[in-house]
Amino acid sequence: MGSDPARELAELVADARALAEDARDRGVLHEALDASPEVTEAPGAPPAGARASTAASGATPAPPARSTPQTKAPAPRPAHAGWSALASSARDAELPAPLRLERVRGELGDCRRCALARGRKQIVFGVGSPQADLVVIGEAPGYHEDQQGEPFVGPAGQMLDRMLENVLGLARSQVYILNMVKCRPPRNRNPLPEEVSSCRPFLDGQLSVIAPRVMLVLGSVAFRALFDTQQGIKRNRGRWREYRGVPTMSTFHPAYLLRQPQDKRLTFEDLQVLKRRYEELTGG
Ligand code: URA
Repeated sequence: MGSDPARELAELVADARALAEDARDRGVLHEALDASPEVTEAPGAPPAGARASTAASGATPAPPARSTPQTKAPAPRPAHAGWSALASSARDAELPAPLRLERVRGELGDCRRCALARGRKQIVFGVGSPQADLVVIGEAPGYHEDQQGEPFVGPAGQMLDRMLENVLGLARSQVYILNMVKCRPPRNRNPLPEEVSSCRPFLDGQLSVIAPRVMLVLGSVAFRALFDTQQGIKRNRGRWREYRGVPTMSTFHPAYLLRQPQDKRLTFEDLQVLKRRYEELTGG
């Protein structure tokens, strides 16, 4: 599948516009993901703390930091033994996680298992800590990700970074970020069921190695693909589900939030719920 330069350009222009609109929102509207005082005090949010006073002063939020000191022992990580369609290289529990993750990547190889291979520039496997307590799941690489070989590096990625840093207090390097499919679909269409199925053993292999304590799913497409359901994100966001024993929260996709900034508040609330569970499970 060849690339279409005019379409790529149109996508870049659309991304730039979204980024500019988001920057304007951030500067003028004090939206939820900038942790403005009114949102920090929203129902379900913890008492206003240091971040609220930072926002109240109008200053740029502090750099990522774990907001609560380590007080409790972390809960055991979920056991993933017995997963059926696992990439076999993930199974050798004797080896350290980074090496097992490399082996899953090696088993994926120069993948030609589905038609997405024909249009991609490169495989976008995942990025972050192989021992992360939180895994973030998107749908598929877009233009920027295909170019750079890393998930969530375009405008949606910048929004995701703010979600992680400003709400969860986590740097990108502290979590692991991946997509349901590892290759960019042509014209950024949604991945097809057979494409999701082809990638599933590698997704499960990654999750089995990382053994996250919690996961965050971004947007309807990833939600439907992960849970094999027709339901959408609007009805399911903010709720816990389990994927292979791992508590999994779903919320809006950051690209959607760039288009619909009014829904940042709901996302902020979902992330607060996730943060509480994360802190319970990690003892942090
Ligand atoms: N959107 C996704 O779902 N994943 C990416 O990696 C980038 C944008």
